[in-house]
Amino acid sequence: MMETPKRYMITSALTYANGPLHIGHLAGANLTADIYARTLRNLGKDVLYVGGSDEHGAAITIKALKEGTTPQAIIDKYHKMFDESFRKIGISFDIYHRTSEKIHHETSQGFFRTLYQKGEFLEKESEQYYDEEAKAFLADRYIKGTCPKCGYEAAYGDQCEQCGSTLSPTELINPVSTLTGNQPVLRKTTHWFLPLDKYEPWLKKWINEGILDGEKVHDPKKWKNHVLGQCNSWLDSGLQARAMTRDLDWGVDVPSEVKGAEGKKLYVWLDAPIGYISASKQWAIDNNKDWEPYWKSKDTSLIHFIGKDNIVFHALIFPAILKAEGTYILPKNVPANQFLNLEGNKISTSRNWAIWLHEYLEDLPGKEDVLRYYLTRIMPEQKDSEFTWKGYQDANDNELVNNLGNFINRVLVLTKKYYAGKIPDFDPNLTIISSEGEEVTTFQDSELLMVFDKLQEMVEFIERFEFRAALKAMMEISTIGNQFLQFNAPWKLQKTDPDATAVVMNTAAQIVVALSVAMEPFIPFASAKLRKMLNLPPVAGKGELAKVLDSLSEGQLLIEPGHQLGDVGYLFERIPDELIEAQREKLQATTATEPAISYAPVKPTIQFDDFTKLDIRTATILTAKKMKKAKKLLVLTVDLGFEQRTIVSGIAEFYQPEEIIGRQVLVLCNLAPRKLRGVESQGMILMAENAEGALSFVAPEDGWGNGFSVA
Ligand code: 2FM
Ligand code: ZN
Repeated sequence: MMETPKRYMITSALTYANGPLHIGHLAGANLTADIYARTLRNLGKDVLYVGGSDEHGAAITIKALKEGTTPQAIIDKYHKMFDESFRKIGISFDIYHRTSEKIHHETSQGFFRTLYQKGEFLEKESEQYYDEEAKAFLADRYIKGTCPKCGYEAAYGDQCEQCGSTLSPTELINPVSTLTGNQPVLRKTTHWFLPLDKYEPWLKKWINEGILDGEKVHDPKKWKNHVLGQCNSWLDSGLQARAMTRDLDWGVDVPSEVKGAEGKKLYVWLDAPIGYISASKQWAIDNNKDWEPYWKSKDTSLIHFIGKDNIVFHALIFPAILKAEGTYILPKNVPANQFLNLEGNKISTSRNWAIWLHEYLEDLPGKEDVLRYYLTRIMPEQKDSEFTWKGYQDANDNELVNNLGNFINRVLVLTKKYYAGKIPDFDPNLTIISSEGEEVTTFQDSELLMVFDKLQEMVEFIERFEFRAALKAMMEISTIGNQFLQFNAPWKLQKTDPDATAVVMNTAAQIVVALSVAMEPFIPFASAKLRKMLNLPPVAGKGELAKVLDSLSEGQLLIEPGHQLGDVGYLFERIPDELIEAQREKLQATTATEPAISYAPVKPTIQFDDFTKLDIRTATILTAKKMKKAKKLLVLTVDLGFEQRTIVSGIAEFYQPEEIIGRQVLVLCNLAPRKLRGVESQGMILMAENAEGALSFVAPEDGWGNGFSVA
């Protein structure tokens, strides 16, 4: 039996402090967690919600190198920016911390020390890539090469950004040092490895059955399919021991008692998630609280909000670290989101194809909630989704202004007009018309119970991490309100039947109060504004939603007759076309002025003999089909004239199987065969790749014939 959680420990992925925040960061790990945390607080739950800046790892040093400054200067700059931007957009962290703090260095070293003393690590001499010109071992991010899984040629040593696979540098085909463009060499170095292979059996059981040490600790049915899928694809291909130390000069020092580790640093993916714990410790110090129950008590629900590129780290590696330490609980769920695209393209920092949060806040002041609303509405919960400025404008104009704003405004303005801003008293036995167009006598039986159901629905969706559906449920309360007003038309009714009008207007006011609480997790600024208009205290995460639910279920009013409203104004306003146009132009213009393409450095010179070793032939594609469960791969048969071959090619995102049959291509036909997902690929189709990573065939003219060499 799983216990009902007594408290919630909520984390948002720590953001690399190497560039400004964009809308993708919000849609992935932050807005989700914020809505979740706010809702739970409004339900009166005990919540600790932490976030922070991830200030170690090669991402930071690479940025410092590029800008000719120090890593410290980089992290200081971005940490400050993140802190401000998150605050302005209303992310309600209980603490926004940073991994460069002393308490974090000590906490992560403490973890390492415990694991070391418990004998969990394997000390292994291994071969790692070393750049002889730069005289440095290369961190995973400093190595690029071809992804063994999808053939993408600019994959990093730790991850392929094309297919999302997590990699280790030695898996890359044709690795190149990004420091010098040279081919790195393998050199011996000693590191401390976490034997993930040893943990595989319990990890499998924990992930797929929710069972840990014989106890049911989570419900896998509540985990997103794509999260389970990614974990199982890792587990199925066999986990390997992973080095927890690195040869770097920026990061947390390996504790000094570890012999032979002088000058080495902790692996950033060891220290970063421990950052959630050090943030919690700092919060406890600042607030005179105890952090340990949030991390060690079985009746705590630990939830990690992340983007999909962080899944294995939070669902396999960090849990393995926590379990190896021995005194911590494991996450109850890891509700990763997919990616958010922007106006038809992937968000790209290097191409400046992004909406930067600090610029949005500056360009569109007062529109924080519009962004929050639209991002929640299109949240990439199950699959990638897309932000368009037109969609943003439509969501604002049609939904926030026409539905929510309009309902609230009509109720408040009419209350001002008919009752001098006092909530009217009423006779509950009078007959009015419900939002479904039926005559009802007691308004509690109809409208307010429907509102109650919608609120419950909203809470259930949030508990299931279905934020889009939760937002929809919230907006349906407003739709109910609008229909109710429409059917009863108090603006006409007042002339003929003021008593019935009072019932309608009182009911409508109750709905507005329910909305002021329900909307808070999604659009907190509008909620605060509305509460002021209602002359009620702001929703402050102190069980307000629980109180509303209780009152409604007991047939009690949410706002009493005689209550005096405050000043009434508009909550939302239309977004003019010019504003949208300006943002679109800005997006296009900044991209155009940026050096749009970053060309890969020219590889080291080769001799003619090297070239002649490549046997490249003309060929025709005979058959093509998608490879199961591999969205990037096509399995092709090609006719080389003298024989037919099977080739697995990473082009499925760019070509449909049926459109390439009969096409002439060039095939590198003396490449050693390689198995991809169990199919032997007997050669490689030559493709050109542009800066966006799109692929195009490199081919002879039509009808050239098959089997001829490239000379
Ligand atoms: O992918 C990223 O942006 C990482 N900085 C996330 C780290 S999450 C956690 F482990 F801190
Ligand atoms: Zn790949």
